[in-house]
Amino acid sequence: MAQITEVAPDLFRITTFLDQFNLQFSQFLVRDDEPLLYHTGPRMLFAGVKEAVASLIDIRTLRWIGFSHFEADECGSLPDWQRVASLAEPVCSLVGKLVNVDDCLALRPAKGMADGEVLETGRYRFQFLTTPHVPHCWEAGHFFEETQRTLLCSDLLHQAGNGEPVTHSDVVGRCRDVLKEYQQGPLANYMPYCTLTDPTLQRLAALKPKTLATMHGSVYVGDGAQALRDLATVFREVLGGGGHMAMSPPR
Ligand SMILES: [Fe+2]
Ligand SMILES: [Fe+2]
Repeated sequence: MAQITEVAPDLFRITTFLDQFNLQFSQFLVRDDEPLLYHTGPRMLFAGVKEAVASLIDIRTLRWIGFSHFEADECGSLPDWQRVASLAEPVCSLVGKLVNVDDCLALRPAKGMADGEVLETGRYRFQFLTTPHVPHCWEAGHFFEETQRTLLCSDLLHQAGNGEPVTHSDVVGRCRDVLKEYQQGPLANYMPYCTLTDPTLQRLAALKPKTLATMHGSVYVGDGAQALRDLATVFREVLGGGGHMAMSPPR
């Protein structure tokens, strides 16, 4: 079964390490009146993630399935979850709902969130921020849990390896290492660097999160604003033209 760690009150990190990618894949379960699963994980992990979620809640009560953008690790097993949880409704950006999710993934339509809209699950309040192309994809967004100041930050702060569930030490340096490594191979340009990148990261930093719940790597607890500002600097350095862009020359 996946590894389970409570990283903030009622927020459980469910993590599987996949050797072939040298990468952790984490989903987050919010145990509340209306339970929320954030990221479904890819289909290949469904059985293990389901077992982990079932150890925390009655799966039939799962109410929300949230995610940042349209990729297998974010939402690939959404139909499997909707089959076992008849109340479960996807929740993502309005663009995600309109462009992808309702047509080619969800069994029942998604709730499309507008920028600044709040999803209440009971004790917890999730403010939604549209963040196009950050970390990547037009429909990208982020949820910020206001009572505990937790940012569910998807691929931001991506770290390689099988690290500790929670850390107070430098995650931005680890992220810089993996972005630089990816730039040298087939995974180059994992995230775009565009006019929206820096303002979006500064906007997320202004939320002053104290927990940064990333999908790949250790959850960071500490000065989340500083970490996100440092991440903006790393993105500018590594992805913003300062680094090798790893593109094929024109023929
Ligand atoms: Fe992604
Ligand atoms: Fe991811």
